[in-house]
Amino acid sequence: MADPRTIRALLQATAPWLTQRGADNGRTEAELLVGHALSMRRLDLYLDLDRPLSDDEIARCRALVKRRGQGEPLAYITQEREFYGLALHVSPDVLIPRPDTETLVDAALARLPEDVEGVVVDVGTGSGCIALALLQQREGLRAVAVDVSTAALAVARKNAERHGLFDRLELREGDLLSPCRDVVGALLVVSNPPYVLRGSPLLHKDVAAFEPALALYGEDDDGLGHHRRILAAAPAVLHERGAVLLEIGADQQEQARGLLKPPFVAVDVVADLGGHPRVVVLQR
Ligand SMILES: C[S@@+](CC[C@H](N)C(=O)[O-])C[C@H]1O[C@@H](n2cnc3c(N)ncnc32)[C@H](O)[C@@H]1O
Repeated sequence: MADPRTIRALLQATAPWLTQRGADNGRTEAELLVGHALSMRRLDLYLDLDRPLSDDEIARCRALVKRRGQGEPLAYITQEREFYGLALHVSPDVLIPRPDTETLVDAALARLPEDVEGVVVDVGTGSGCIALALLQQREGLRAVAVDVSTAALAVARKNAERHGLFDRLELREGDLLSPCRDVVGALLVVSNPPYVLRGSPLLHKDVAAFEPALALYGEDDDGLGHHRRILAAAPAVLHERGAVLLEIGADQQEQARGLLKPPFVAVDVVADLGGHPRVVVLQR
């Protein structure tokens, strides 16, 4: 990179450098990284493009840009990702929330009337993204959110407090639904469990290198072992007309349809905006 001395020059040098290293949108990423390093919003960068930068500021920007150039996901560097309109804190202890998972939230909301009152259970909550999006959209809802990772639960708590939703969220630590033995009548059990097979060609190398293995890799030969275990335990916590909504990989539709077993009576697979199978819904 050249030795840029203003915000404008720094952005001009950084954007193509990031694009060459595989960033989808080098300019946007450059703005987010420089903005983060300088504690400035993207808009404010544009209002001050010719501001001279100190050596210290340039060093801070370069350090972040270098991390991105080495493949570290942008969200871990800026510690922030938007999900369903909520700005969420993220750390390497949690999966970075994906737009695909908004399909699961949409499918859940379609089953929860605006004036709903009751509880949903989110299994493997990570950053808390699914539970928090549901709580934000439905004022009468409460959620129990489980994760086996203490560090992930701390991130979920921080996000719940940040958005004023902590009073309707109960965080529990443990394996899948085992910390929910006292829950009865849940309207829905929702989950984006780990489902990737180790060595899958669908897994990007930077995801494998930087995101938590605990959040990525599924159980059983088809990656749907967590799904099976959630479904086996769900009837005990679910309302008699409740449903289980589970995220799946784009290549797991057939196996997912095979998850249907009593007391569930119907299975449906919902596609994401890209048309890929993404959510399996099992209706009681
Ligand atoms: C794919 S991530 C999903 C995180 C978040 N719900 C999302 O959609 O971005 C899976 C989450 O499940 C958690 N997890 C993995 N195995 C678990 C288990 N046996 N019991 C509870 N949580 C588990 C991981 O720690 C991780 O936070």
